[in-house]
Amino acid sequence: MRLTCSEKDLLSGKEGPVKALAMSHLVKLGEAFDAEEMVDITYAHMSSGSALRSGEIDYLSGLSDQGARVKVPTSSEVIAVDLRDPAAIGAPPSLVKDYRRLLAVHTRMGIAATYTCVPFTQGYVPPKGACIASMESAAIIYFNAVLGARTNRCGFFVLFAALTGKYPKIGYLLDKNRLGTHLVSVQTNLLNVTDYGALGYHVGRLVGGGVPVFQGLERPRQEELIMLGAGLATSGTVAMYHIPGITPEAPTTAAALGGEAPGERISVNTGDIQAVYQHLCTASHNTVDFIYLGCPQYTLEQIRTAADLLTGKRVHPDTTLWIGTNRMAFAMARRMGYHEIIKKAGGKLVCDTCPVDSFLRLDALKKRGIQQPAVQTMLTDSAKQAHYARTTLGCNTLVDTVHACIQTAVRGK
Ligand code: F3S
Repeated sequence: MRLTCSEKDLLSGKEGPVKALAMSHLVKLGEAFDAEEMVDITYAHMSSGSALRSGEIDYLSGLSDQGARVKVPTSSEVIAVDLRDPAAIGAPPSLVKDYRRLLAVHTRMGIAATYTCVPFTQGYVPPKGACIASMESAAIIYFNAVLGARTNRCGFFVLFAALTGKYPKIGYLLDKNRLGTHLVSVQTNLLNVTDYGALGYHVGRLVGGGVPVFQGLERPRQEELIMLGAGLATSGTVAMYHIPGITPEAPTTAAALGGEAPGERISVNTGDIQAVYQHLCTASHNTVDFIYLGCPQYTLEQIRTAADLLTGKRVHPDTTLWIGTNRMAFAMARRMGYHEIIKKAGGKLVCDTCPVDSFLRLDALKKRGIQQPAVQTMLTDSAKQAHYARTTLGCNTLVDTVHACIQTAVRGK
């Protein structure tokens, strides 16, 4: 791989041992994938480092002790507790203490403590063509497909990219890998945002790591695109899709396919969407003890809808309702009175975390010697959340619209 003089300087340690270490990992990654060169990245979205995995916070802390600071604007992924009000959701104090330590480490390193899976709703909007480094599959696919920025599913390498401002030119940073591989004809009406998640989940299973080009989607809203991408990236490893006339790299179907015939044609009908719901609905009884809305984290508009539905209502005493969002949407929700409505109804507007990455995970509780909470059945409006909840929380799942979720929260069934 060709390295510029400044990249060679980074590698040789002229800018310190941390950057040299980071650069050496990036060079190895580039060599493994036959990269010809590095690119400059302009933004990074990284794993926060989890107290649920041994050593991660210590590792970051060690780097910060050596003076490590990120070189590009860097946001951070969800953590396992809500640091704003951890007691409200019953987060174990020992875990909260770990994350307060992590917050100090992030602050020292210049990493924004966004603790979100939708950083593009918090002002991180890299323009078309910008090379970035991101983890979190739901964010990656939005950056690539909806914004036209360029990122791989970078995992732990995001940290090294953030520290150096570099990333090897591989994968979705290359034009050829961004072209459509499958032509997907949607022949059913999608009635709500949950249906978009189900569509993504269905197509992701069929295309695996491909790049679907959708036909038949009429002007989707931002929340619908977020949910579509989350579904695609959950059942498959999809990191890019096109909707001709809507997403920035697909003015036409022909452009999305690079002038070639699609590798495969897929037709989606109402039965396919229903089959996703059947697959994700595993509960055999009608009592629901946990309802989660906000996967990916809710936008202000989605919080408003939930608050409207909860106005004058009361969540059933045997049911817990979490509505997940990020700090910026939370601040606006508080300003607009939505938080007060949700709180008054007995629901919880939760920041920083999400159930499947939280202290509710079975492995997290076991590690801490804490008794398993009794989440028996989770109802959610997100295919992605249901997919992961069954294994990480060990519960049954149900998927339905936000309207049905709120109605169920009130009835408990
Ligand atoms: Fe976000 Fe958790 Fe869903 S991190 S995308 S709310 S699984």
